[in-house]
Amino acid sequence: MQPQIPPGGRISGPRLAVLLGSWRQGGSRHGAADLAAAIELHVLDGQLPLGTRLPAERELAEALGISRTLIGAALDRLRESGIVASRRGAGSWVAAPRRRGGGPLMPSGDGLICLARAAPSALPGMAGVLDTARRTLTEHLGEHGYYERGLLELRERIAQRYTDRGLPTSASQVMVTNGAHHAFVLVLRMLTGPGDRVLVEQPTYPNALEAIRSAHAVPVPVALDPAGARGWDIAGIDAAVRQAAPRLAYLVVDFHNPTGLRLDAEGRERLGAVLARARTPVVVDETLVELDYESDPLDGPPPLAAAAGDLAITVGSASKSHWGGLRLGWIRASEDMLGRLVSSRFAVDLGSPVFEQVVLAELLAEAGSGMLAQRREEFRARRDGLAEALSWYCPDWTWTLPPGGLSLWCRLPEPMSTRLAVAAAGHGVQIAPGSRFGVHGGLERWLRLPFAQPPDRLYEAVRRLSAAASSVRGTPAPVATEVPIA
Ligand SMILES: Cc1ncc(COP(=O)(O)O)c(C=O)c1O
Repeated sequence: MQPQIPPGGRISGPRLAVLLGSWRQGGSRHGAADLAAAIELHVLDGQLPLGTRLPAERELAEALGISRTLIGAALDRLRESGIVASRRGAGSWVAAPRRRGGGPLMPSGDGLICLARAAPSALPGMAGVLDTARRTLTEHLGEHGYYERGLLELRERIAQRYTDRGLPTSASQVMVTNGAHHAFVLVLRMLTGPGDRVLVEQPTYPNALEAIRSAHAVPVPVALDPAGARGWDIAGIDAAVRQAAPRLAYLVVDFHNPTGLRLDAEGRERLGAVLARARTPVVVDETLVELDYESDPLDGPPPLAAAAGDLAITVGSASKSHWGGLRLGWIRASEDMLGRLVSSRFAVDLGSPVFEQVVLAELLAEAGSGMLAQRREEFRARRDGLAEALSWYCPDWTWTLPPGGLSLWCRLPEPMSTRLAVAAAGHGVQIAPGSRFGVHGGLERWLRLPFAQPPDRLYEAVRRLSAAASSVRGTPAPVATEVPIA
């Protein structure tokens, strides 16, 4: 029987080549196996969803600069394991992987450690807040439940937080969304059209790149210097803004994902002035701002919007500070801009769930601040524990300890991030290779390691990564004789 093609998109040869990064692991003799393993990694990682049509062999051979024979051999392997299916005349597509020998493709459950996401579990103490919120919800049951701007008491608390951080804000400048990512997509929809340029940091948050591309806009990268004192190359941003005339900028200046860098107050003044001069609207993504390990978040530098003025559209989130499962974020903008965003939202959705908003309003009240302070303490210890485990197991990897956020951005001893990700999957650790954070791939010397998980999991993950790195480099893994972290 001919295999059925599930519905799905198509990926071009050049795009797949970017995604695959430096996929060769074992030298030219293992080319087909390495290519098949790299494609499998992206299927398992969700980067190549079920049904995705793969490029024709000729197109992929051209994009990767290798022979069609090698592509054919890699596809044969993928067909054998059920990851790819093909039909004469219809090409090849991503299929549902078969379980090998009845077992899972990778260790799962307790065996698998996922370091591909930088997402912590819910704030301890959340369960108690749910009980309070359940009682408060009953007060809303007599109303219609559609709040396109969000519940007033929640918007007031979000606005107060901005005011306390040095950016006077009223509830009429805030709209609650279904997460910061949703907020960014709403802004993109309203402000950009096909072919418009969007200035981004390089590296940057991969889902933001995905959103820009699916809006048919073009990301324009400006490199961050992870080792530089300030990280942001303001002169470079100035030049890019003048030359590329982007329609929008997307920046993460507070505990940037993936580097963890933060722009200082003077840099914010200069950056705000550059954007204001060019009249470039900027989405300031503050998803990680509350995860400050050096000071109280209220004592940090003022929000970038204080320097960029009405051109700034700030997006925030409860995902990292409280819980991603609430799926709540927000937009803070000028009243005029916010009004336009509210109107354009009706084409997409009609508001966020009320119960979750009641929960978040409760969490943002005074009672929640103690829980958040505790979370900061805990994550600081996780960050330090991850760094210690890395010093022990991967002594030739380097990083700068980030002042906040959820990840270490590690420089590897050689360009091997994608190969390492493939090998790590075999050792039961999922990681996102550096290429995922670049506009055109690359960044093979870099790896993001989130520290959102408990120390014993992080320690075990690093032990496995060290073994995977050794297999990639052909050197023995260092043997730890002592447990470096509790
Ligand atoms: C910089 C950044 N922006 C946005 C998001 C998505 O946030 P949300 O869960 O609120 O959609 C993340 C999640 O990792 C992130 O790191």
